[in-house]
Amino acid sequence: MRKKIVAGNWKMNQTLSEGKNLVEGILAGLPALNESKEVVICPPFVHLSQTAAQLDEYEHIYLGAQNCSSEASGAYTGEVSAQMLQSTGTHYVIIGHSERREYFNEDDALLARKVEQALATDMKVIFCCGESLEIRDSNAQNEWVGKQLKSALFHLGDLLMQRIVIAYEPIWAIGTGRTASAAQAQEMHAYIRHVIASQYNPVLADNMTILYGGSAKPSNAAELFACPDVDGGLIGGASLKAEDFLGIINAMMAS
Ligand code: 13P
Repeated sequence: MRKKIVAGNWKMNQTLSEGKNLVEGILAGLPALNESKEVVICPPFVHLSQTAAQLDEYEHIYLGAQNCSSEASGAYTGEVSAQMLQSTGTHYVIIGHSERREYFNEDDALLARKVEQALATDMKVIFCCGESLEIRDSNAQNEWVGKQLKSALFHLGDLLMQRIVIAYEPIWAIGTGRTASAAQAQEMHAYIRHVIASQYNPVLADNMTILYGGSAKPSNAAELFACPDVDGGLIGGASLKAEDFLGIINAMMAS
C-alpha cells in the first residue's frame, strides 16, 4: 500500500528552544494520522533526542535526519553515523539533497554509500533527486533524474528498495517561491514511477511514495497532492512555521 507523507526539512534553522516550541505547535494542531498518512520531522542533528522525546507518545509522526555518514564508525571527526541516528529514535534519513550535492560535493558514488549505511540500520531513506534550471530549459530533466536514481539506488535489491521514499525536488523551485506546476510535478513523478517499474516491477513502483519538494506551501499543496503520482511533500521554508506546516499536512489528509 502506498503511503502519503508530509516531511519537514528544517535545514540549518532553529535553536534547541525554538525547535521545541515549533514541535509543540505542530503537535497541538496535528490531525489524526494513520498508517497511510504520515508526518516526518527532520531537524538538525542536535535536536534529534529532544524531538524524539516530544514525539514519543504520538503515532504516525516520525523523526528524520538530514544526512548521515557514508562510513559505519571510526575516526571521521564531525560525522554522524546511521547507527547513531537510529539510536536517537530516528526513522528516516534524507540523502542526496541538492544542497548537499552542491555545497558539500556529494556525488552519486558517495550517496550510494550513504544509502547503504542508512539501510544497514532499520531506517528508511528519503532520497532526493531533481534538475537545475539549465537542465529543465534544455528539456533533459527526465534523463538527468533517471541517471540520479540509477547511480545511487539501482544496485539495491527489491527488499531494500522498498525502504526508499523518493523526493523530487527541482533545484529551480527550492526556496525560490517558484513552485513546479502540478502538471510538471505529475509528469516527472509518473516518469520516476515508470523508471522504477522497469528496473524493479510495477507493484514495487506502485507502492513507492514519491514526494514533491520546492516552494510547497499551504496555498499550493492541495493542487500538487491531487496529482495521482504525487504522494505528499518534502517541505523546507513552510515547515518552520507550525501553522503553515499544519496547513500542508491538512492538504495531505484531504487528498
Ligand atoms: P523549500 O520548501 O524552502 O523550497 O525547500 C524545499 C526543500 O529543499 C526541502 O528539502
